[in-house]
Amino acid sequence: MMPIRRDLRFNLPQDRACDWHAQGSHVTHFFNALSLLFPAGERFFMDSVRNYRDQIDDPVLKKQVLGFIGQEAMHTREHVEYNDLLEQAGLPAHKLDKRLWAILNFGRKVLPHPYQLAVTVCLEHYTAMLAGLLLEDASRIGGSVDGYAQMWTWHALEETEHKAVSYDVWNTVLKPGLGRYLLRTGVMLATTITFWLIVFDFRVRLLIADRKRGGHLRGMWRVVKYLYGPRHGVFPRVAAEWLSFFRPGFHPWDHDNRAQLDSRYRVISYDVRGAGASEAPATRNGYRIERLAADLCAVVNAACGQQPFHLVGHEWGSIQSWEAVTDPQFKGRIRSFTSISGPCLDQGSVGLRGGHDAHNKRRMTNRSPRVGIRQMLRSWYIFFFHLPWLPELVWRMGRVRMWPLWLRVTERVDASRDPMQIERFVARHLTEPGGSVTSLFNARAAGE
Ligand SMILES: [Fe+2]
Ligand SMILES: [Fe+2]
Repeated sequence: MMPIRRDLRFNLPQDRACDWHAQGSHVTHFFNALSLLFPAGERFFMDSVRNYRDQIDDPVLKKQVLGFIGQEAMHTREHVEYNDLLEQAGLPAHKLDKRLWAILNFGRKVLPHPYQLAVTVCLEHYTAMLAGLLLEDASRIGGSVDGYAQMWTWHALEETEHKAVSYDVWNTVLKPGLGRYLLRTGVMLATTITFWLIVFDFRVRLLIADRKRGGHLRGMWRVVKYLYGPRHGVFPRVAAEWLSFFRPGFHPWDHDNRAQLDSRYRVISYDVRGAGASEAPATRNGYRIERLAADLCAVVNAACGQQPFHLVGHEWGSIQSWEAVTDPQFKGRIRSFTSISGPCLDQGSVGLRGGHDAHNKRRMTNRSPRVGIRQMLRSWYIFFFHLPWLPELVWRMGRVRMWPLWLRVTERVDASRDPMQIERFVARHLTEPGGSVTSLFNARAAGE
C-alpha cells in the first residue's frame, strides 16, 4: 500500500478541547494524552527511518518512505495546533510536550540507529493497533465534536495506510537472524511499559489540571469500560494483535484491515454532459448551467441518498459545481466544496474587472485593471467558442489535428498519445446539432 500525503486542516473548537469526546472528559483526556505524544514521537519516527534512507534501493519502498514521512509531518503539524488548544485551555500541554522531547532527544543521542528504528517499528505497531480499533467500531469516536472526530479518524486511516513502512525498512536494512528478532521483541517489551507509563502519567496530569481550572470531569466509569471492558475495551481488543508481534515471521499486514480504508473513502466521479461516456444533449439548451446542477443532484441522490457529501470540481467542473453549492436544494448536504481553477460565475466578472468583493476583499482589490484585461485575453477562447458556426467550421477544417499541438503549446500537456480520442470526440459531439462551447470545455476538463 502506498501512503499518500494529504494536507488536511480541521476545525477544532477551542472551548471543547477538554470535553470533545462523546463519552466524556475522562475519555477525552485519554485521547488528549495520546495527542501530546505525537509532535515529539512522530519526529523521532521520521528521523529513525531517515537514518536508513540511503540504504534502500527498492524504488517502491523509497516512495513509501517518502509517503510515510509526508504523512507523519502532516500529523505533527495538526497535533501541534491541537496541543496548543490544550495549553490555551489551561492544561500543561507545552510542559509535557517539552518533557517528551527531552526523553526522546536523549534516546536519539544514546541509542544506536537499529535501536531507534526498533522503537519506531514497535510504536508504529501500537499506532496501527489503536487506529484499527478506532476504525472497526464507529462508536469509539462517534457522536463526538466534529473537528476532533474527523482529525482522529484521518490520523487513524493514515496510520493504517503506512503501518508496514518502518517494518519493511527494518527488514530491508537489518541482517536477518536471531539478533534482529531479539532486538525487535526486546524493544517491544520495553516500549510497551514506557509507552503506557507516559500515556497514563500525561492523562492523570491533564485530569488534575482540568479539575484545578474548574472543569467538570464526566465519565469516569465510561473510561474504565472504554479501556478495560472485556468485550470492547482497548486493552482486551489489542491483546492478540500485540502478541502476534512476537511471532518470528510477523508482518503488520498479516492483520489485513485494508477494507477499513475502502469503506471510509468512497469517491464518485461522473462524466458530465457531452464528455466521456455521457451523451450529448440535442440542443444547446441542454447545457444550461441549471441542468448541469440537476445532473449533479441526480448523481448524488443515486449514489449517496440523502447523506451529506464532499464536492470537488476542477475548471469547468468547478464552475458548474458553484451553481450547485449556491442552490438551496443542496443546503446542509454539501459538507465542503473544493474548487480548483474554476470561479463562481457570479464572482468571475468581478475578478476580471478587478472590482470589489466583500467576501474576498484583499484578493479582489489587489487586482489591477491590467491584470483583468490580461486574464480576459488569456480567456479568448471563451468568447471565440460563443460565436455562431465559426468554432465548428474551424474544427472541421483541421483544428482536430491541431488540437494536440495547441494543448502542448498553450497548456504544456502531452495530448498526442491517443489522437483518435479527439477524432471520436469531434465525431460524436461537433457533428451533432447543438455541439457547443460546453462540449469543448468538458473535453478540456475530461482531458480529451
Ligand atoms: Fe501519525
Ligand atoms: Fe505512524
